[in-house]
Amino acid sequence: MSDLIEGYLGKTEEGKKSRLPAKLDFMQSFTGGFLALFMWGHMLFVSSILISKDFMYTITKFFEGSFIFNEGQPIIVSIIAFIVFVIFIVHAALGMRKLPSNFKQYQVMKAHAKSMNHDDTKLWFTQAFTGFAMFFLGSVHLYIIMTHADAIGPYESADRVWSEYMWPLYILLLLAVEFHGTIGLYRLCVKWGWFDGENPKATRKTLKKVKWSLTVFFLVLGFASLAAYMKIGMENAANGTVGQKYTPTASVIEYKITNKSVGGIA
Ligand code: HEM
Repeated sequence: MSDLIEGYLGKTEEGKKSRLPAKLDFMQSFTGGFLALFMWGHMLFVSSILISKDFMYTITKFFEGSFIFNEGQPIIVSIIAFIVFVIFIVHAALGMRKLPSNFKQYQVMKAHAKSMNHDDTKLWFTQAFTGFAMFFLGSVHLYIIMTHADAIGPYESADRVWSEYMWPLYILLLLAVEFHGTIGLYRLCVKWGWFDGENPKATRKTLKKVKWSLTVFFLVLGFASLAAYMKIGMENAANGTVGQKYTPTASVIEYKITNKSVGGIA
């Protein structure tokens, strides 16, 4: 019996209970937890544009390893994107086990959820729907970023968002990822009993409030950042400067030179 079938049936060839479903569940939690936390970092990085173009430029160069290599190496970002892509695919593949496999099963689950009127069961439907949407939306973004890591920056990103029509995709992806990520983290806390304490019911209520606050926070931050990229992209289109690379202002260059020379003397 293949591992996959064993994972589905929960039984080995000899008819004994298999540990595989538990292992796969753990893997799904682990990859999901990693991706959700990665997205917090990612959204903070993307929102650097709200502070200034120079700040977003500096952060971009940091991820390209500018503290080691003089001009930064975009290949580092491609490698990180590739690793995230692999984890994303593994997580999606494991998540597929939980989707209903035909319409009849879907109807039964829907009726069951309706009759129970249980909030967490309803969350499951949001998870399944946003997860399915991300299969496509997330893959497009990750592939483009992986293959165009040298075109990330205040102007380059803004042109991709506006002139290369990524903004409609980002609106949908942002909604899907923020709901999916925070519901996922909430489910992890409940499933593995983190923060259960004396009164798990009260904890669940608090966790739900935290979950909602995080969703709203990251959605507001995400949409504000998207608007900033769209604005810069529109300005570039109006000025006929689409495709130009961002040149940092004197203060960033000066800071770099000063730090390098101090490092050299030391
Ligand atoms: C290493 C992997 C990743 C890198 C380097 C990366 C990089 C970026 C960059 C530079 C932007 C700004 C727009 C642009 O340049 O096109 C962006 C936007 C965005 N990314 Fe990623 N990304 C990664 C992974 C992901 C993943 C896994 C997701 C979710 C499945 C995601 C969701 C988004 C969303 C929703 C936006 C738009 C956010 C907004 O504008 O507020 N990214 N990403």
